[in-house]
Amino acid sequence: MSKKLFIETLGCAMNVRDSEHMIAELNAQEGYELTDNAQEADLILVNTCSVREKPVHKLFSELGVFNKLKKEGAKIGVCGCTASHLGKEIIKRAPYVNFVLGARNVSKIGDVLHRDKAVEIEIDYDESQFAFKDFRTSPYKAYINISIGCDKQCTFCIVPKTRGDEISIPADLIVAEARKAAMSGAKEIFLLGQNVNNYGRRFSEDQGKVNFTELLRRVSAVEGVERIRFTSPHPLHMDDEFIEEFARNPKICKSMHMPLQSGSSAILKAMKRGYTKEWFLNRAAKLREMVPDVSISTDIIVAFPGESDEDFADTMDVLRQVRFEQIFSFKYSPRPLTEAEGFANAVDPEIGSHRLSVLQAYQDTILDSFKAELLGKEVEVYFEELRSDGTIAGRSDNNVSVKVKGSEEWLGKIARVKITEVSRLVQYGEIIA
Ligand code: SAH
Ligand code: F3S
Repeated sequence: MSKKLFIETLGCAMNVRDSEHMIAELNAQEGYELTDNAQEADLILVNTCSVREKPVHKLFSELGVFNKLKKEGAKIGVCGCTASHLGKEIIKRAPYVNFVLGARNVSKIGDVLHRDKAVEIEIDYDESQFAFKDFRTSPYKAYINISIGCDKQCTFCIVPKTRGDEISIPADLIVAEARKAAMSGAKEIFLLGQNVNNYGRRFSEDQGKVNFTELLRRVSAVEGVERIRFTSPHPLHMDDEFIEEFARNPKICKSMHMPLQSGSSAILKAMKRGYTKEWFLNRAAKLREMVPDVSISTDIIVAFPGESDEDFADTMDVLRQVRFEQIFSFKYSPRPLTEAEGFANAVDPEIGSHRLSVLQAYQDTILDSFKAELLGKEVEVYFEELRSDGTIAGRSDNNVSVKVKGSEEWLGKIARVKITEVSRLVQYGEIIA
């Protein structure tokens, strides 16, 4: 009987890919097979996120639950960003945890498994050229890392302390991964990094000059790749060359994530984001002008230390001017190891909650008007998922998620769909070609 692995993945797309890498390594080296039932697992992994405080608190109660339900002799490993920043503290607080593996030490999974109480969280460990074995959660879409770590020092963000300095993965490796994925039938490639459009600033060995725009060209030249998505680009590095390639290249999906964080230039400065409100508006306007059907999503933090009513009004003003198709909004959460943790001028939590609800209510009105416009429109949908309710689900090039009555035969195919019903979360449609 093969050994069973249960893995819970929290946080961002990079964690999803790290989990895939661990699954692949454990399968190839140790013969583990995935299970979705933690009770029958021989190994339980939690791949954690530490970007905000709440999930970190929840982690320990969750580990307690796993410890109670796990079968006799099963191991528990804690991986990811919380592993990086808490390290051996995790084993102190939860002594039944067998090992701790940091977000930058994914390739050591087979090793820590055999060293009880191992803590591997080396922050300058270089995995950029490690040839991971292959595993993909979806046969239709392939996540590919293009860099590890992050060189920015946004004052609210713990990621540079958990994932370390930024190193780009050699372009040849990325193209080879894209080729492999396309040959196995994945039409969509999803390029991942904390700051993708900073790609190519530093490799661990000389790789010649390749920036993100050039990388996009190379990946789009791979036969069989029909759609390219990426996350996350940084608004500061959205130069004209990048926006023009985005507009011009038909394989690049017309969906852009532009993490604003705040609309106030003063707060952006305190966050060390490197751009102003005007720069952001200028880039978004250029994008909308060059790509009329583009969908723009963003991340917003409200109640960053020192945020006044006027600062918040600036954020609302950007929402009004850009009309984002989607926003991910958070109340500022002070994080250890970050510069902003020491900032004295905290915003009253109640004011923070109020601002968040004002912002989200306004965004809902924008969303409702987008959705109303969608009704009756035709979009190209790539079907990736068969649902138990007899529908197939997928996304349009510009990120509209659509469900259609249909069967397996459509999976992995792109079809033209007419939108017949809309809601805030999902649209229903009919295949017309
Ligand atoms: N560059 C990364 C950003 C990682 S963090 C990426 O590729 O996604 C994801 C989002 O979490 C950030 O854009 C920010 O909006 C939010 N975030 C990060 N630190 C935070 C904090 N201390 N409090 C609240 N939200 C935070
Ligand atoms: Fe965090 Fe800023 Fe990097 S949000 S991941 S430090 S770009």
